[in-house]
Amino acid sequence: MTVAVHLPLAEKTDWWVKVLQERLPGWTVESMSAVAKPEDVSYAVVWRPRTGDMARFPNLKAIVSIGAGIDHVLADEQLPLGVPIIRTVGADLTQRMREYVALHVLRHHRDMPRQLRAQAERDWHAIVVPVAPNRTVGVMGLGNLGAAAATTVAGLGFSARGWSRSAKTIPGVDTYAGADQFDSFLAGCDILVNLLPLTDRTAGVLNAELFARLPAGACIINCARGPHLVDDDLLAALDSGHIKQATLDVFHQEPLPADHPFWGHPAITVTPHVASQIDPLTGAGLIAANLKTFEETGTCEDLADAARGY
Ligand code: NAP
Ligand code: GLV
Repeated sequence: MTVAVHLPLAEKTDWWVKVLQERLPGWTVESMSAVAKPEDVSYAVVWRPRTGDMARFPNLKAIVSIGAGIDHVLADEQLPLGVPIIRTVGADLTQRMREYVALHVLRHHRDMPRQLRAQAERDWHAIVVPVAPNRTVGVMGLGNLGAAAATTVAGLGFSARGWSRSAKTIPGVDTYAGADQFDSFLAGCDILVNLLPLTDRTAGVLNAELFARLPAGACIINCARGPHLVDDDLLAALDSGHIKQATLDVFHQEPLPADHPFWGHPAITVTPHVASQIDPLTGAGLIAANLKTFEETGTCEDLADAARGY
């Protein structure tokens, strides 16, 4: 059984080849660029593959995304149709996202950027904010990560709500579903967290129209994908004061170019796509287990739906 691995950095590819080989005794794990017999490759394990990478392998049984999102796989215009895509998810990834969302929701709630500016000016400036139950935090996307994030903010005492495609019941969270309930969901969200997958239907969802539907002074946390956000619309909404602050972990181009206005904007916090990176050793264990299960049974728990886009 041959597994071909590709990540954008060669040294990372080599690391993943080594740890997956250790966890898949009897299989052959190699870097995609070293594959001599493409017809032998049964599985591809990838992060941001290049266009045409997968089309080289005529006997591919499944593609593994080294992460929760599969948009980077579907972006390949030559992707062979019908090859199952396996996500890499799990408690570790969910826990990290819980921590990131809690940190930045509380930071916006307590207006820490303003407090830090006051400290820089040696200004004893007491900021009094509403208590959490009087603040509404909305989470877009209620999958593995969004549901955990919404439950976490509810646990902190916030008035939590969430929006997904299909209806959900999550204890402590007011849930909304589908396009019909989107405006009702947005109205009243003081802090909006985006945890949608990037699909044709969700690209550009964080735009001027959405910002206008939020209450004045709302804050945005985008920890899903950069193309969910229309950058210029956010800059305009921040400049007008309608949106107060934003935390951005993901960008159209990563790394964020040095001359991008987000870097120096006083109302934007930039983090370098670290909200929830898979722990490599845990991830390698999950991927090896999924590959073995898929090889034995022809399916596994973490299959994505390529037609749906997530
Ligand atoms: P998931 O389990 O696939 O859940 C996706 C959620 O989004 C589901 O609740 C789904 O609704 C909802 N959704 C999809 N399309 C929608 C639409 N058009 N309208 C309304 N709701 C829609 O995804 P996940 O594992 O939670 O991950 C979410 C995303 O987080 C990933 O795709 C990835 O881009 C991003 N991510 C970022 C980082 C980071 O470090 N920044 C780390 C991991 C993941 P249904 O439940 O009704 O299907
Ligand atoms: C990270 O962005 C992921 O999709 O897991």
